[in-house]
Amino acid sequence: MEKIIEEEKQGTTVAVAPKSENKRKLYIESYGCQMNFADSEVVASIMATQGFNTTNVLEDADLVLVNTCSIRDKAEQTVRKRLEKYNRVKRKSNPNMKVGVLGCMAERLKSKFLEEEKIVDMVVGPDAYKDLPNLLTEIDEGRDAVNVILSKDETYGDIAPVRLNTNGVTAFVSITRGCDNMCTFCVVPFTRGRERSRDPYSILEEVNDLWDKGFKEVTLLGQNVDSYLWYGGGLKKDFKKASKMAKATAVDFAQLLHKVANAQPNMRVRFSTSNPQDISDDVLHAIAAHRNICNYIHLPVQSGSDRILKEMNRLHTREEYMRLIDRVHAIIPNCAISQDMIAGFPTETEEDHKDTLSLMEYVKYDYGFMFAYSERPGTMAARKMEDDVPEDVKKRRLNEIIAVQRRTGHERAQFFVGKTVECLIEKESKKSPDEWAGRNTQNYVAVFPKENYKVGDYVMVKITDCTSATLIGEAVGYSDMVGPTTLDQ
Ligand code: SAH
Ligand code: F3S
Repeated sequence: MEKIIEEEKQGTTVAVAPKSENKRKLYIESYGCQMNFADSEVVASIMATQGFNTTNVLEDADLVLVNTCSIRDKAEQTVRKRLEKYNRVKRKSNPNMKVGVLGCMAERLKSKFLEEEKIVDMVVGPDAYKDLPNLLTEIDEGRDAVNVILSKDETYGDIAPVRLNTNGVTAFVSITRGCDNMCTFCVVPFTRGRERSRDPYSILEEVNDLWDKGFKEVTLLGQNVDSYLWYGGGLKKDFKKASKMAKATAVDFAQLLHKVANAQPNMRVRFSTSNPQDISDDVLHAIAAHRNICNYIHLPVQSGSDRILKEMNRLHTREEYMRLIDRVHAIIPNCAISQDMIAGFPTETEEDHKDTLSLMEYVKYDYGFMFAYSERPGTMAARKMEDDVPEDVKKRRLNEIIAVQRRTGHERAQFFVGKTVECLIEKESKKSPDEWAGRNTQNYVAVFPKENYKVGDYVMVKITDCTSATLIGEAVGYSDMVGPTTLDQ
């Protein structure tokens, strides 16, 4: 399952219920990670206060906003192509349309964007969305507008996101912004700035509000959730300078998990992304302690070679990662684990690559998101190392990694055949209008006949078969995780 879930969402555009007093039309499109999709919900919420309703017809838009990703060159090329498309629409049928670029590419390229892409009127970095009202005034008056200032404390904790493209069952709640890890291949620390955490009370408020609106699952989001630390606000790196009182009352990620799980015991809790160097045993115990925290950890490793891990500035060894996997299994029975992997990092040899494959055989990952190395301007790897693994070698290694993942993923899926698992119904199956699709705690999608069940129900599903990533079965009754939908029965 190579990034299948994410790929199908790329470029999603959204329209929400219009407000009658709003007269202008906003078309907003998002690329990249879940955080970008969550940020677009914050942006839509701000734009609703500025007279904009959303539309999903590009030709009708007064303003187009594209929330962009810089993680690999391909992600940036996709956005460039979209800009060409907007340009054609503007020339052909919508001459007054304005275009704003948001997110990581905006942060990386700054005002260069205005020079390189004539169609762009506005460039807004990920920490500057609250400045959108001012920037709008600028472009309305015919000037280009740029704000790419990164912030020490912006978490948008005080903005209630407009839920875009929602199934009404699952929602993202962001808990940290930025990243301090400085993996040498990664552009995120440059585009999203230093790491800061969001006030736990505003997180709990958002979770409670989602429950009241009928949502049944939240995914807590951050580039590195295990590093979450609230001590009254401010950058993670300034924690050592905090007062004794602030230190004594600080909330870490394990404590946050307990709080969220206790606040809504029938709301499922997921989180992403974990980092092997920062995840603590307290987090594993928190997962084990609460039935509603899902048994699934996305635990990127990037490589199985000690030498490459060091070059990547991943601050753990292969052995430490393997012992961590052992602890996950000891503390959380049947926990699913997924990976991110990079093939062809500079200087990677066949030996290093084999170490990656053998680590994968050891862990037997349930899922994986696998990529060929893409050099990103400004990163340590780009500055210090030559991108010296030929493209065809990267591709071949990537294919070998994907092949191992397919096999272990299928083996792991087969574990569920014959078992009865609890699933939360999210939507209709893509394959059949007569079937529901829902996920079990390990994040496997199960499909089964609809019968009289409804979206948002927790049901027990007897699994009779599987493909490499999907479980197939039939519902055998409600689970005892009760929510408003099932209470209505
Ligand atoms: N902590 C983040 C990681 C963001 S990037 C998170 O929340 O997911 C997601 C994945 O993209 C990384 O784990 C890595 O596997 C991949 N990636 C990042 N930079 C890359 C690059 N320069 N080339 C190829 N893949 C990259
Ligand atoms: Fe990137 Fe490493 Fe942070 S992959 S997002 S620098 S944990």
